[in-house]
Amino acid sequence: VEETYIMIKPDGVQRGLVGEIISRFEKKGFKLTGLKLFQCPKELAQEHYKDLQSKPFFPKLIDYITSGPVVCMAWEGVGVVASARKLIGATNPLNAEPGTIRGDLAVQTGRNVVHGSDSPENGKREIALWFKEGELCEWAPVQEPWLKE
Ligand code: GTP
Ligand code: MG
Repeated sequence: VEETYIMIKPDGVQRGLVGEIISRFEKKGFKLTGLKLFQCPKELAQEHYKDLQSKPFFPKLIDYITSGPVVCMAWEGVGVVASARKLIGATNPLNAEPGTIRGDLAVQTGRNVVHGSDSPENGKREIALWFKEGELCEWAPVQEPWLKE
């Protein structure tokens, strides 16, 4: 099954947006399989964003992600990776459509409140990176027959 790693960044936690952001994925109908509040060590942030390590903003990005607790989530569902990216909106919140998380709740790229994996491969990679075995839950939501024909 397709999985994506969604993370509420430290600004989202500090601004009290945790419930609001989780709600958007919950209401959409995806399945939550992992959830924790976590203070991310520098090494993990660097590994997570390793594709961006040559960018000038990389040190600032690592400081940002490690500046306070994040909420780590694993979500599952057909098409969840691309759909979550749509729900999240463009990287620069000023370009993000109203109705998206970043479009509704943020104003700067460097404070864009939430992360979402950009491919199913990275979804699997990132979930394995941020969660230990035993922290993920396989379960059958009772609403499933009302979401899928
Ligand atoms: P993520 O879901 O967090 O991976 O964002 P994204 O996929 O929309 O963007 P990308 O992977 O290209 O960049 C990762 C993160 O780095 C962004 O979400 C921003 O928080 C940060 N970032 C990207 N570009 C810039 C920039 O030009 N300046 C600053 N300060 N941060 C940036
Ligand atoms: Mg990205």
